[in-house]
Amino acid sequence: MSDLNHHWQKVYRDKSPDQVSWFQAAPQPSLDLITKQRANLGGLEFIDVGAGASTLVDSLLDLGLASATLLDISAEALAVSRARLEAQGHQDLGYLVQDISQWQPDRAFDIWHDRAVFHFMVTPEAQAGYRRALMAGTRPGSLIVLATFALDGPEKCSGLPVQRWGLDSLQAFLGEGFHALESQNHLHSTPGGVEQKFQFSVFERQRESKPRTSGNTHEQGLVLEIS
Ligand SMILES: C[S@@+](CC[C@H](N)C(=O)[O-])C[C@H]1O[C@@H](n2cnc3c(N)ncnc32)[C@H](O)[C@@H]1O
Repeated sequence: MSDLNHHWQKVYRDKSPDQVSWFQAAPQPSLDLITKQRANLGGLEFIDVGAGASTLVDSLLDLGLASATLLDISAEALAVSRARLEAQGHQDLGYLVQDISQWQPDRAFDIWHDRAVFHFMVTPEAQAGYRRALMAGTRPGSLIVLATFALDGPEKCSGLPVQRWGLDSLQAFLGEGFHALESQNHLHSTPGGVEQKFQFSVFERQRESKPRTSGNTHEQGLVLEIS
C-alpha cells in the first residue's frame, strides 16, 4: 500500500463522512453546474473522480442518471458510498479503487466530475498522469467539472499540500481541446466552521477537431460568479 493510499484509508477509517473537512450536506454547486449544462441525464455516463463519500451521485441518480462510476484511492471511502447507494436500491454502479494519476481508463465518460482531488496533484508527473486519464476517460462533447482550492484558498487539505488553480491556469493546463463554459467561486464551510475558498470550473471537450482561432479563454459563454 502506498503512503498516499494509507493516508486516505486512515482518514475514512478514523472519521465519519460528516466529520471530514470537505463534507457537504448538499453537493453544491456541483449539482447545479452539471444539471445546467446537461438537463437530460438519462443515457449519460458519469464518473466522480475521488468521489469519497460524496452524495452528488445520489442526487444525479434521483434526477435520472442511469450509469455512474465512483473512483477513489481509498477503498474505505468507496465502501461508505457503496453501502449507502445499495441501501437505496442502486446495485449496479461502478466502483474503482485507483490512483487517478496512474489510472488508464478503458472507456470514456460523458461527465467527469472532480471536487478537491486534482488539486492534490502537485508534481508535473502526477499532473501529466491526471491529464492522460482525463484524455482517455472523456470524449469530444464530454463535460468536465473541476473544483479546486481557489488561487487565494488554503495551501493544504487533509494535511497534504495542494496546488491552487484559477480558470486561466486550468485552461492552460488542459489546453485548447477544452472549452471553458463557466467558472464560479464558492465558499465552503467545513464542519469545524472554517471557510475555504474553492473555484468550480466547467469545461467541455471540444467537439470539432479544428483548433480554436482565439487563445482568449474569456470568450463566449463564460460566466464569472461569486457565491
Ligand atoms: C478532499 S476529498 C473530496 C471527496 C469528494 N470529492 C467530495 O467532494 O466529498 C479528496 C478525495 O480524493 C481521494 N483521493 C486523493 N488522492 C487521490 C488520487 N491520487 N486518486 C484518486 N483519489 C484520490 C481521497 O481518498 C478523497 O476521497
